[in-house]
Amino acid sequence: MMKVVSVLVLAMFIATSAWQISCADPPNEEPPHRITPLMKMKLDKSKAILEGLTLEDFDAITKNAKALKLLSLESGWNVLQTPEYVTQSQEFRRTADMIAEAAKEKNISRATLGYVSMTVRCVECHSYMRKHRMELN
Ligand code: HEC
Repeated sequence: MMKVVSVLVLAMFIATSAWQISCADPPNEEPPHRITPLMKMKLDKSKAILEGLTLEDFDAITKNAKALKLLSLESGWNVLQTPEYVTQSQEFRRTADMIAEAAKEKNISRATLGYVSMTVRCVECHSYMRKHRMELN
């Protein structure tokens, strides 16, 4: 149980740091770009996974992990056509699979670990996007 709690605390820590990093961005640095609803849905679904983890609601975890994977397969996901973006997307999908499989086995620790890995993928890809933009400027 302690293990699960510490992994969850770590997950929350990462999620909070990610949030702080995004808030630390200076405003109005670049013109706002169009954000598709698809991109915004990622946040809702990943929050729903965290909720499912805390409630040990395995159905909710599975449902939202699968939905996230499906989102990542939609054409609107492919904002960039770089090999790096493809790799980032694949690694993201792997974490979604890990969460869904763990939830199917009712393994809360593994599902939580999957969530932590997924959060890392969110942050990594976004940081790649930022770097990529800077190179274009
Ligand atoms: C493979 C790359 C990749 C991964 C992984 C990824 N994103 Fe994104 N995300 C993007 C791109 C591309 C955009 C579009 C905005 C942009 O061009 O920066 C975006 C936009 C967003 C936005 C809208 C941002 C805004 O300015 O309103 C949110 C929220 C978001 N992502 C959350 C998440 C969350 C939560 C995860 C993990 C569950 C995640 N993303 C994983 C690439 C990714």
